[in-house]
Amino acid sequence: MAVRGVIHTADEINRIRRAAAVTAEVREQIAALAKPGMTTFDLDQLAGECIRATGGKSAFLGYCGYPGNICISVNEEVVHGIGSPDRIILESDIVSIDVGVCIDGAIGDTARTLYFQEPSADIKRLLEGTHESLLAGLAQARKGNYICDISKAVETVALRHRLGVVREYVGHGCGIKLHEPPEVPNYSGWGKGAKLEPGMVLCIEPMLNLGTAKVTTDRHDGWTVRTRDGKPSAHFEHMVLITENEPEILTWPKMM
Ligand code: MF3
Ligand code: CO
Ligand code: CO
Repeated sequence: MAVRGVIHTADEINRIRRAAAVTAEVREQIAALAKPGMTTFDLDQLAGECIRATGGKSAFLGYCGYPGNICISVNEEVVHGIGSPDRIILESDIVSIDVGVCIDGAIGDTARTLYFQEPSADIKRLLEGTHESLLAGLAQARKGNYICDISKAVETVALRHRLGVVREYVGHGCGIKLHEPPEVPNYSGWGKGAKLEPGMVLCIEPMLNLGTAKVTTDRHDGWTVRTRDGKPSAHFEHMVLITENEPEILTWPKMM
């Protein structure tokens, strides 16, 4: 039986559109507030305030017991990092923020990696390569394509930039629940996956490493995912609606 994705109703799509826009706005607010010298716990608390100010709540806090308002993953941390009062953000850090907001029964989920100083050539390749791989994936989010077309597009760009593609974590359907079918891997070779139909909402979220693709999960907090080789990792995530025509990126930064 072929994998199917969740197809949302018109009413759901209207609410998901709004939740995604709100979440993108919060992501940009947090990005603007993040500064070297503050701790990742401070940043998580500020994020909580930004989320509450929208009238919504964190989609992550309490999810499978997750303790933070947002995920904050620094340098070799890939995803699911938890804000800590012991971790001061340094000028030289790259900081991935992943934000989820639940509002009016719908959910937005979006991420980006921040930097504070002129990046080295390797970090630039990591950040630009990861973002470019996301854009390549988004461009394939069209009616009639399959999930594998997104996966292949992301992977092709990642490999061209000589980046390690994390396989243990994948993109996903999203909208009413945080994680809905289908899965959206950032690598190919596993099959075709769901056929893309109007009304599907996907989170495409490449997690790419400067070194090896291999990751490990912190045995103490049970959440923080790190590269095995300790080299930096980047994460960019957008939500996209499959339509009759062009992909509609629901978490694109708002133009003034
Ligand atoms: N935001 C993650 C994703 O993109 C999920 C985070 S779940 C949490 O799918 F519990 F860690 F917050
Ligand atoms: Co996310
Ligand atoms: Co996601």
